[in-house]
Amino acid sequence: MPVFDRFNLTGRRALVTGGSRGLGLEMARALGEAGAEVVIAGSDETHLQNACTALGGEGLRVKSVQADLSRPEEAERLCDVVLRDFPAIDILINNVGGRRINTPTEDLSLADWQRMLDLNLTQAFILTKRLGAAMIPRRWGRIINISSINAFWPGKAMRGRSYETAKGALTMFTKAVAADWAGHGITVNAIAPGPFLTDANQRWIGERPEFEQEVAGSIPMGRWGQPEEIAPLALYLASDASSYMTGSVLVIDGGKLLW
Ligand SMILES: NC(=O)c1ccc[n+]([C@@H]2O[C@H](COP(=O)([O-])OP(=O)(O)OC[C@H]3O[C@@H](n4cnc5c(N)ncnc54)[C@H](OP(=O)(O)O)[C@@H]3O)[C@@H](O)[C@H]2O)c1
Repeated sequence: MPVFDRFNLTGRRALVTGGSRGLGLEMARALGEAGAEVVIAGSDETHLQNACTALGGEGLRVKSVQADLSRPEEAERLCDVVLRDFPAIDILINNVGGRRINTPTEDLSLADWQRMLDLNLTQAFILTKRLGAAMIPRRWGRIINISSINAFWPGKAMRGRSYETAKGALTMFTKAVAADWAGHGITVNAIAPGPFLTDANQRWIGERPEFEQEVAGSIPMGRWGQPEEIAPLALYLASDASSYMTGSVLVIDGGKLLW
């Protein structure tokens, strides 16, 4: 098969959580351009509609489901809706997550710790369990977990260590499930991004403008990543192009971890 054909997703259906903005939107766009039908999930209905209008306007097939994935019961409800309305999900991108807080560990409340673990980890477990289970009888599936370089490295610039903890656990969850499901034709891999200029980071820059240069200066390439730069990597992991790769964690960070 010619190499570009291995990236073709015609006939596949993907669910991208957090697909309405940021890295998720660019990954959803890439899968759609490769021929997949894409379902995006997010907490804000307006953001979802904006993304559907933009991607639909580009000729892509996209649907949306609203769910607040910081709440485990909402992750379960999302699975109920998806399994009812879009039963065969071939590609699952567990992208929702974020640091949200900049609180030192000594001041972090148990409630905030739990909330951050639910947002970054528990919902990914629920979606993997339920939608991955439905992939097993079909003997083909791709699960991509969006981790972070903070899974291996506690950043200097910000606190809120529940984030590092959850991303570390998500990374090990990736490897463990990859081992269990390799024989079912399902690959499970993770992407560990470094700093990208998405809304979440624009918010931190808004609060502390010097943060933008501080971070750029700490990256060998001398700049933040642009959200669309993650898309080809997600397409690789979502397609037959990555048929012999499972349990891997692919770092994309402009060389940040080198220094
Ligand atoms: N950006 C980076 O530099 C960077 C670096 C390393 C890792 N990552 C990871 O990459 C992933 C995406 O980051 P991003 O920067 O693209 O984030 P973002 O710009 O904040 O976008 C987040 C997306 O997730 C959705 N979302 C947020 N909270 C949600 C919730 N409670 N329930 C459902 N959907 C929710 C948003 O939809 P709504 O608008 O509806 O809330 C939006 O579509 C995260 O897991 C993050 O930890 C990012």
